[in-house]
Amino acid sequence: MSQVKSSKENKRTVAVWTIAGVGAALLALMGTLLLGAVAQTPLGQGLGQALNALFGTDGTHATWFVTRSAGIIAYLLLWFSTAWGLGVSSKILDQVLHRAFTFDFHEFISLLSIGFLILHIVVLTGDQFMPYNVAQILIPFISPYRPVWVGVGVIAFWLILLVSITFYIRSRITMKTFRVIHYLSFISYIAAAAHSVFSGTDTPLPMTQLMYAGTFLVIVFLTAYWLLTMRKAKALPPQQPAKRPVTPQPQPRNPYRPSQPTVGTAQAGSGAKSPKRDK
Ligand code: HEM
Repeated sequence: MSQVKSSKENKRTVAVWTIAGVGAALLALMGTLLLGAVAQTPLGQGLGQALNALFGTDGTHATWFVTRSAGIIAYLLLWFSTAWGLGVSSKILDQVLHRAFTFDFHEFISLLSIGFLILHIVVLTGDQFMPYNVAQILIPFISPYRPVWVGVGVIAFWLILLVSITFYIRSRITMKTFRVIHYLSFISYIAAAAHSVFSGTDTPLPMTQLMYAGTFLVIVFLTAYWLLTMRKAKALPPQQPAKRPVTPQPQPRNPYRPSQPTVGTAQAGSGAKSPKRDK
């Protein structure tokens, strides 16, 4: 009964996190489209001029800042999701957190990363310096800027989408298919990292290089640990079904035999009464 209840609660938690993730992605998308639409109106242009005067920026730079910052947040979330997934697979997190939570959280960070990715690429369509069309965003290697490394980013994007979709069709595919598709997340992380490093304006900055190097090393370490745990698990002999211990069958108790005292009822059986309270 309690198992049915907890599986219902789990399903509800998954639904809530999923709605939150998809909602965040949709909000980001709608917010961007709304901003783009408002920017075309006289009010939006006035606002843009005011912002420009306040922060010393202009329309060209604004979209460039947004796409770069959204790209970096998407990269960090993808890294976190990959690291978390490795932690779940190698059971490191089992010691501190409940498995149902670690799975749901993994799914949630992936969705959040997709939300920021959508912002990263949608903003490119409104860029005044080098506007992208939908084909240039969705088809690899036809970008007007650094076609090879942006193309690698497009491939990463498709792989991230594919891996994330398997969360929702998990019950309809075999565990083997789920795992094989999930392994693609390694390739998507490496492709996203290569794209970020080689097409980013911020890459020459020492802080950015430190961030890429540090995050990449964490993944290398966790992957090595995960491979070790997999090897250990394979080296273990396959578990035999536990043999039933041969225990002597309990004899029916004979309440009249003094050699078989019964716990808690011995006194009752012997006719002894509980001590009376002092009055
Ligand atoms: C459809 C797929 C993608 C397209 C079209 C795309 C496009 C671009 C472009 C044009 C730039 C250069 C921006 C600049 O001037 O610095 C860029 C940079 C970047 N992208 Fe992507 N990208 C895609 C996918 C991804 C993915 C999957 C990630 C990571 C999860 C990502 C993260 C980044 C990062 C971190 C930068 C560097 C920002 C900077 O340092 O300036 N992008 N992307």
